Amino acid sequence: MSALFTPFSLKDVTLRNRIAVPPMCQYSAEDGLANEWHLSHYASLARGGAGLVIVEATAVSPEGRISPACLGLWNDEQAAELAKVASAIKAAGAVPGIQIAHAGRKANANKPWEGDDHIAADDPRSWEILSPSAIPFGHHLPRVPRAMTQDDIARVQADFAAAATRAREAGFEWLELHFAHGYLAQSFFSVHASRREDEYGGDWRGRGRFLLETLGAVRAVWPERLPLTARFGVIEYDGRDEETMQESIALAKAMGEGGLDMLSVSMGFSTPDAQIPWGPAFLAPIAGRVRQETGLPVASSWGIDNPHNAEATVADGLLDLVMIGRVHLANPHWPYQAALALGVERPSWVLPAPYAHWLERYRPS
Ligand SMILES: Cc1cc2nc3c(=O)[nH]c(=O)nc-3n(C[C@H](O)[C@H](O)[C@H](O)COP(=O)(O)O)c2cc1C
Repeated sequence: MSALFTPFSLKDVTLRNRIAVPPMCQYSAEDGLANEWHLSHYASLARGGAGLVIVEATAVSPEGRISPACLGLWNDEQAAELAKVASAIKAAGAVPGIQIAHAGRKANANKPWEGDDHIAADDPRSWEILSPSAIPFGHHLPRVPRAMTQDDIARVQADFAAAATRAREAGFEWLELHFAHGYLAQSFFSVHASRREDEYGGDWRGRGRFLLETLGAVRAVWPERLPLTARFGVIEYDGRDEETMQESIALAKAMGEGGLDMLSVSMGFSTPDAQIPWGPAFLAPIAGRVRQETGLPVASSWGIDNPHNAEATVADGLLDLVMIGRVHLANPHWPYQAALALGVERPSWVLPAPYAHWLERYRPS
């Protein structure tokens, strides 16, 4: 009996297994609109057998995009195009999820394959970038952001709530708040990015205020019966790790009390000087600790690309959901092949019926 291929229920949603496709930016949109690329990309991933497919970081406002080619959800036209994507994911048997985001001081960058660096402030494609304090990320993202006023904060939180409403109207059944990876919310929490002296700064409660308030604004509009999750960087690998972990766990518990249903455990990426111990499934024990100390269900990713590793993270109680990212780009049918590798009874039934029927007896050599 495979733990990875056991269904997972959260609120009124049941996933067919514990495999999720994490959000992965495609940098392929114009004016924030999903197009044929997004439709075919997400449909193929859903067809491959994952239980949950989370659409990439989708900006809640134009200045919240990482690049000019990122998806957005600040108008109804964008919601209408994303509705087609949600519907295609669902038609293939996966639950459609979406991550809503604001890129903060990492906004207004070129696509990764066109430099990954900030667009210069005097370029016609540039826009003003916002962050809790006027501190740049540095390295390839040198532009100094404008420190947000409390009016800016209230506006961005209202944008998150409006995007959540549109996500629901578009048919998404799983919502993830992007509170990780050095973008706006993570920057409010990070000592590397926030030096605020008002109630949004200071100790972890002050630095966590933006995240808790944003969660509250979204929970108020997102249906109670549907999962609301957050991706949160609980560690920076900057030498302050135990302190950051303790603060992150305290904030995650407060998020649980504030209506969060699950945490996707990731890294902060708030400083270019982090020393990340890359390796197979290296973050899974950290996620397991968060799961144990918060009592929240957790998902995580990073280097889990082998069916046996993925199986072990669930069977050993580290993760409830395993996010399989880049290897899904190489092989959208990874879940089917993992089921074969793990000796799951009737592995073809991981797939939608029009494929499963034929693969029941035929095994590719
Ligand atoms: C092309 C690409 C785009 C990504 N975009 C996002 C994103 O939109 N939101 C996010 O939280 N993480 C993003 N990530 C991180 C992935 O969700 C995932 O955590 C990472 O790839 C590690 O998992 P893996 O080792 O299975 O690939 C992205 C990663 C890649 C490779």
